[in-house]
Amino acid sequence: MTKRTSIHAVLLLGTFIAFTSCTREKPAAQASDGTEWLHGTTDERFRSVAKHLRGLDVTMMEMGYRYAELYFAGQDGNWQYAGYQLKKLQAAMSNGVERRPKRAQSAKVLEGPLAALREAIQSSDSKLFGDRFEGLTAACNSCHQMEQVPFMKVVPPTSRPSPLRFTQGSSEEP
Ligand code: HEC
Repeated sequence: MTKRTSIHAVLLLGTFIAFTSCTREKPAAQASDGTEWLHGTTDERFRSVAKHLRGLDVTMMEMGYRYAELYFAGQDGNWQYAGYQLKKLQAAMSNGVERRPKRAQSAKVLEGPLAALREAIQSSDSKLFGDRFEGLTAACNSCHQMEQVPFMKVVPPTSRPSPLRFTQGSSEEP
């Protein structure tokens, strides 16, 4: 073997090793991307993800939390946080009925009370907020009646669900 051919042989071997180690690493990378539990065709995988995302029950768990946080934001006069929770409540409901369109008609009952509550928040009016929060509670319960779950009665909370606390001035901070 001449010096030149042996250099070629070394280069070729190097390229081969680099190539095989590259192609060998690929399945390992796929196996650790967090989707190993999804099996079957793309449709089957989407069905698994949809099943785990759940339906209106998970939406409602979120609604319960945000409803309670909204209540205390109003009590505290933390209008920025109240506005935030109101927006998230609407987003949760709208995503919920996208997943469960049969519930969309009854969910419209929230539109008026949420718009009225937004006005109270925008005018930083605690008294008005209290009155309009009652309207929201009534709307929650009226949908529960329409959707055959009257045994799930919504009442304003007595304890705070989250560890967030309002300190003076924090509503001005982002
Ligand atoms: C579409 C009409 C509708 C509206 C509007 C609605 N709910 Fe519900 N809610 C339901 C239904 C239906 C269930 C039962 C879910 C199920 O069977 O999967 C439920 C269940 C719940 C649950 C129990 C969730 C669980 O699985 O633990 C809570 C809490 C709840 N709702 C809170 C609220 C609050 C608070 C409001 C108002 C801000 C509200 N809901 C507005 C239809 C509605």
